Amino acid sequence: MQNSSVSPLFIQRYVENKAEVRAELQQGLLAKTATTSPKYLYDALGSRLFEAITELPEYYPTRVEASIFEQFLPEMAAAAGLGHTLIDLGAGNCEKAARMFQALRPAKYVAVDISVDFLKQTLTTLQRQSPDLPMLGLGMDFSASLELPVEIGAGSRMFFYPGSSIGNFTPADALPFLQQIHAACRGQGGLLIGVDLVKDHTVLQAAYDDALGVTAAFNRNMLMHINQLLGSDFNIAQWQHRALFNTELSRIEMHLDATEDLSVRWDGGERRFAKNEGIHTENSYKYTVESFMQLLKNAGFQAVKPWQDANQQFCVFWAKA
Ligand code: AVI
Repeated sequence: MQNSSVSPLFIQRYVENKAEVRAELQQGLLAKTATTSPKYLYDALGSRLFEAITELPEYYPTRVEASIFEQFLPEMAAAAGLGHTLIDLGAGNCEKAARMFQALRPAKYVAVDISVDFLKQTLTTLQRQSPDLPMLGLGMDFSASLELPVEIGAGSRMFFYPGSSIGNFTPADALPFLQQIHAACRGQGGLLIGVDLVKDHTVLQAAYDDALGVTAAFNRNMLMHINQLLGSDFNIAQWQHRALFNTELSRIEMHLDATEDLSVRWDGGERRFAKNEGIHTENSYKYTVESFMQLLKNAGFQAVKPWQDANQQFCVFWAKA
């Protein structure tokens, strides 16, 4: 008999501290090279623009990663083993993890995102489709700290971090983050992670500067979000999107450049920008299979197994704790 009364459990740990957010934004805007954290790209509209990016012909990572999962899922399940607690970091619409349920047969599914509000509807629907799989929605900022609540349970843990979101950390920040995941595995299970690879610069650059201008809108929308958070007076029309591949640091950089001399003001502060002066809004690091394997090993993982697409654009790694 189907147990249709089961509903997911939700825990909200993250509480936004408005003063902290304002202080962080001010500090970044007043730095010699103005910088903002990429997390501010994702207000409600920004999240929808990001979903649109994943459908663009130029933005290959989402499609290529999906094809790798499709081709190698049985091998991944064999390498990782079945019956883990599947912990989906940055779960969003939970689509990628849900596609793995059948092959991985998790004992429990934990969807983690900054706010459980984003997770409620999706997880409730997902629970109806898989009534026997216990589900937990967890609202926390896992990039700051990976302290997991006891409700996660004692089962072996399989962390899932797809989409090359690790590329938005600097390698110096990626290492402690991966170390925290390794520690949270407590000697069992491991991490299934998707990573974008270094490739032809024109392919990389087009992925972050598409012909339709969706990535430009995604980047410029952040200024509207900052206006809301900081009470600043950015005029979007005065800013232009720029993406470049920094070969030395192996990263795509996104910037917003002032199209004229201008001033931005907010309660308690002001920043002048000369024409062409920029705000550095995001980095997206690209790895080789070898360099990322090394990073995983440095973080403490034992055995690492990579799967790539035929064109070697993207790689999914299983890193055993
Ligand atoms: C979420 N993250 C992995 C994306 C990336 O490719 O770095 C964010 C993004 N920025 C511009 N386009 C997509």
